[in-house]
Amino acid sequence: MVTKEYQIIAKNYDLAGRASSDIKRTLKNQGTPLTLMKRVCAASYEAEINVVIHSVGGYATYEETEEHIILEFHDDGPGIPDIHLAMTEGYSTATEIDHMNGFGAGMGLSNIKKSADVMEINSDHLGTHLRLTFYKRGRNHESL
Ligand SMILES: Nc1ncnc2c1ncn2[C@@H]1O[C@H](COP(=O)(O)OP(=O)(O)OP(=O)(O)O)[C@@H](O)[C@H]1O
Ligand SMILES: [Mg+2]
Repeated sequence: MVTKEYQIIAKNYDLAGRASSDIKRTLKNQGTPLTLMKRVCAASYEAEINVVIHSVGGYATYEETEEHIILEFHDDGPGIPDIHLAMTEGYSTATEIDHMNGFGAGMGLSNIKKSADVMEINSDHLGTHLRLTFYKRGRNHESL
């Protein structure tokens, strides 16, 4: 079992993506099949950026076992008032600065949902918790 933890700093566009880069490196080193790696990396990057641009900061954890990869993202608020609305493609509360940095198309959460086998999201004003599960021997039997 491999576990890792990363701090995610709010509004820091220079460090944004650092956790996801390390996760990618870890997956590569372990010889993870390319299709699985792409799904995990896409979801990880979107989730990390969301914590950077939409929250006051938080942390991510990575856990890998024989069966699955689990990514969790925790932040300390302000939370997502309407998760259903936030999941809608194209919906975004991103600022002008976010747009200048290339974020804010409103596609992140919907892409995460497509990438992960299981997406669990809980949010209140104290923070948002996103838990993503990827099965190594999934529907496609890609690693069998
Ligand atoms: N961790 C979070 N904390 C608070 N709000 C969030 C968080 N993640 C997402 N949101 C809210 O959900 C909306 C939709 O998120 P989504 O990732 O789909 O789009 P986006 O981040 O605005 O743009 P993109 O991901 O395409 O760059 C965000 O605009 C924001 O209002
Ligand atoms: Mg996003």
